[in-house]
Amino acid sequence: MKHLLKLMDWSEQEITETLNLADQLKYEKKNGIEHHILKGKTLGMIFQKSSTRTRVSFEVGMYDLGGSALFLSSRDLQIGRGEPVEDTARVLSRYLDGIMIRTYAQDEVEKLAEYGSIPIINGLTDYCHPCQVLADLMTIREHKGVIKGNKMCYIGDGNNMTNSLIVGAIKMGMSMAVACPKGYEPDAEIMKWASENGEFLCTDNILEAAKDADVLCTDVWASMGQEGEAEERKKVFAGYQINAEVMSVAKSDAMVLHCLPAHRGEEITAEVLEAHASEIFDEAENRLHAQKAVLVKCLG
Ligand code: CP
Ligand code: NVA
Repeated sequence: MKHLLKLMDWSEQEITETLNLADQLKYEKKNGIEHHILKGKTLGMIFQKSSTRTRVSFEVGMYDLGGSALFLSSRDLQIGRGEPVEDTARVLSRYLDGIMIRTYAQDEVEKLAEYGSIPIINGLTDYCHPCQVLADLMTIREHKGVIKGNKMCYIGDGNNMTNSLIVGAIKMGMSMAVACPKGYEPDAEIMKWASENGEFLCTDNILEAAKDADVLCTDVWASMGQEGEAEERKKVFAGYQINAEVMSVAKSDAMVLHCLPAHRGEEITAEVLEAHASEIFDEAENRLHAQKAVLVKCLG
């Protein structure tokens, strides 16, 4: 059974196949060619956190592929009242053909896969965001022609996005530099793996990380679930921003990615965001095509 619990579980070849399929599905959608590969299949989408892109891309993606999608808010499910994930997994496996889940603990996603008998797709946890990073890799390839050999720089909180970006970058042959304040580094095991398997740097020196970068990425200073720390984080992260100074040390043709939603004036200036809007909104669009490719791989 094919799950997408985290990007680390997928090989470079599987990622490349997914990106190729995503490119094909994008081309075909733009040309009015339909493939009802998932006809008769139903995806359950469990959300314990808010979402615009993930929800809509998976729902439209299932529709495009001839299947259907059910939005399941944890506020309404018994899981929100304490029904164990082990039981939810076994029950939903009897009704559905796959589950996409957005939640807090990575362990919950892993347990769904362990106890359920259908493919599980991680639509974001506190630990990682693999679906987003597949769309990011697709966007980099679209704009740069190739992924391998580029330098990616991430500036900001060492969060779920950072963890998946590191894995995606290193697996696909990019070098990766992360700039974050001390105490807010990405996952220690992922950093160790990255250092052993590619060119990886983690520093609190923003300009050192951004130097000669081909791709600059950032994400919010306070993620979903960290709203209570938002004020404190504004102080800690001040300066950890993609702005004109950062752009001036990156390559002159550097592209900028942001998974969105963005906080202008915090992790990115409004000027840089607008100057790179074509890349950032291609990235958002590519969620749809990349998620369809993931659906075909896992449920097809
Ligand atoms: N980037 C992303 O996952 O967006 P949503 O939170 O809107 O799904
Ligand atoms: N790091 C952010 C990503 C949102 C898509 C969060 O978890 O809120």
